[in-house]
Amino acid sequence: MARYELVKRSVALITLTNPPVNSLSSAVRHGIAKTMDRALSDPKVTAVVICGENGRFCGGADIREFAGPLRGPPLLPLLDSIEAGDKPVVAAIEGVALGGGLELALVCHYRIAHSKARLGLPEVTLGLLPAAGGTQRLPRLIGIPAALELITTGRHVSSQEALKLGIVDQVTEHNACEVAVEFALRAVAKPLSSRRLSALTVPCPPDLDALLEAVTMQIQKKARGVMAPLACVQAVRAAATMPYSQGIKRESELMATLFNSGQARALQYSFFAERTAGKWTLPSGAQWNDTKPREIRSAAVIGLGTMGRGIAVSLARVGISVIAVESDRKLMESGRQMVIGMLERDAKRRGVSASLNLLKFTLSLQDLKDVDLVIEAVFEDMALKKRVFQELSKVCRPTTLLCSNTSGLDVDALAGVTDRPQLVSGMHFFSPAHVMKLLEVVCGPRSSSETIATAMSLGKRMGKVSVAVGNCPGFVGNRMLKPYSDQATFLLEEGATPEQIDKVLEDFGFAMGVFRMSDLAGLDVGWRVRKESGLTGPDVDPKNPPRRRQGRKYCPIPDMVCEQGRFGQKTGRGWYMYDKPGGTNAKPDPLIQNLLETYRGRYGIKPRNITEQEIIERCLFALANEGFRILKDGIAAQPEDIDVIYQFGYGFPRHRGGPMFYASMVGLERVLERLEHYHQAHPDVSHLEPSPLLKKLVACGSPPIQKWREHIKTIHSHL
Ligand code: NAI
Repeated sequence: MARYELVKRSVALITLTNPPVNSLSSAVRHGIAKTMDRALSDPKVTAVVICGENGRFCGGADIREFAGPLRGPPLLPLLDSIEAGDKPVVAAIEGVALGGGLELALVCHYRIAHSKARLGLPEVTLGLLPAAGGTQRLPRLIGIPAALELITTGRHVSSQEALKLGIVDQVTEHNACEVAVEFALRAVAKPLSSRRLSALTVPCPPDLDALLEAVTMQIQKKARGVMAPLACVQAVRAAATMPYSQGIKRESELMATLFNSGQARALQYSFFAERTAGKWTLPSGAQWNDTKPREIRSAAVIGLGTMGRGIAVSLARVGISVIAVESDRKLMESGRQMVIGMLERDAKRRGVSASLNLLKFTLSLQDLKDVDLVIEAVFEDMALKKRVFQELSKVCRPTTLLCSNTSGLDVDALAGVTDRPQLVSGMHFFSPAHVMKLLEVVCGPRSSSETIATAMSLGKRMGKVSVAVGNCPGFVGNRMLKPYSDQATFLLEEGATPEQIDKVLEDFGFAMGVFRMSDLAGLDVGWRVRKESGLTGPDVDPKNPPRRRQGRKYCPIPDMVCEQGRFGQKTGRGWYMYDKPGGTNAKPDPLIQNLLETYRGRYGIKPRNITEQEIIERCLFALANEGFRILKDGIAAQPEDIDVIYQFGYGFPRHRGGPMFYASMVGLERVLERLEHYHQAHPDVSHLEPSPLLKKLVACGSPPIQKWREHIKTIHSHL
């Protein structure tokens, strides 16, 4: 786990060997301790170089070891002893020096980095802080402001930036290890005292308190309720105000608090969930690692509305040529301007040139004869989409993949009107499509494994987190959204206000509460869907009781809001009022308050005081309950997929892990008990009836989330 060689007769070369990133597992720590002892006690050795195998210095701690008890030598004293040694130690950084890897480099007396290396302390993204002296040594090396920024954000820096900041002593284009050996030989005679970072005093800015206060406020605004970045600020404060020995104690205390918090567990779960989500399996047994995706060089986007524009940008900026189709010239021209503007802004931000030559705009589907893949993004209207797919089937060559961006319609019904149902799938982007990272790849029962592999890999190429889901109304994300938003509107009937519910959800950590999110997305979209499914509008039988539809409880308040022309931000009015159409500053609207009061009066509903706990439980337990149904139905293969979809598509706070992880943290027994309680109070709300899978898991002793799959019989049945 750490190889020892003597090179140039007097330099001990220690190579970490733990593929793929030489993480600091117990065996590696043990290896470092042993080889360092050998180097320090061998009189022939005058200097030491530490490097990593396969061009990667060290990717940090082995996260898998966090779950069990600590084995092997603890990192902190090991690192302190390397720094205290009396022979110069040089870190040869190739590839990565991240987390514990950078902390290891910081105790070396010198650091040489390859020009392509990346360095950083990303612990904060896992709900932790760099607890092997990183919060104490980095400020001593590069000063408080720069260290604060790197430690509280977890941002990685290039070796060039690291050189500018003073983290490394030299950047090389050559083999960093060989350069480090030469460097070490030259360092032998030089005194080491000024190279031991723990012995230095921190260059402290005069306005320390103001600086820490400003950073704290920034964090509270950006990452509401997240503990780790705030703990990082406190640790850096300790570095600035205490001697190293006390600062390190403070660092350990803060780490212990974080380590035992639910947030760190949720963030680590999220880290693995994101990686697991890309690993799909179909009922046929075909899976991610045995199906080759097709190469996509050209694509078409049909419809240049809200979604089509963002999809065209996402494709073009990764080098795919795009033919964009609109239905009339004026819309095509405005779409063209928008797409070009978006691509230019994006290219400017990334410091590259915009790939405008990849774009072509047309009014005719006939131009799509030779494209490799089509993404349809016309109105959410099944008859229209079927016409488009029929036409595509005639025009495109027989091997072209046909995908729909539908947000919930039956993908198999679209496949059924084509001559190639096996080449049809859903590619469900989220708005704005060039910004949002989620892509649901909808697998129809006839989609081939190659089709799914291609859609998944195209998503990855566009920088998306792609998740394979089954075909049912709303797929995973939007299907779960219904019970969640239904609960929110039922709570309005019972006495809550939009701003009260949003505040509770935003304090929980959601990027936006349910009403602010609806205002942003546009209230007319859901209204149109409800009208089409006969829930509201002229098709509703006048004898139908006003608050019941299709045998279930129904809340008509969202329809009443739309009937007043309040479609959300775009009209300047929705659940909130805005300064102007398109404005983003949401203010509570007394007209909505009046509407709610009149409504309650009309139906004799006595408003009651709704607690924060009830809002959280009714909205989030209903959300997770639907997730359990989705798992049982085989629409999602594993709870991790659902959680990734909610984090990346719906603003669920990452530090809570996602709706399914949150349910597991609350305790399945408690979730079941509360759902039973609310279902008893609202027997006509089927979403509150505990799902059979939840009951089964509780009956099996509430296993940890990683074991739920063992209790689901129908895994992948719809994937
Ligand atoms: P939109 O109304 O903004 O744009 C649709 C565009 O399609 C319009 O520009 C229209 O002129 C064009 N179009 C209609 N028929 C056409 C035809 N035959 N040929 C070429 N172009 C045609 O709609 P939006 O919001 O972009 O939605 C498109 C699809 O994406 C829908 O299926 C929707 O459910 C789905 N979606 C929408 C999301 C959103 O947040 N808006 C999110 C995810 C999916």
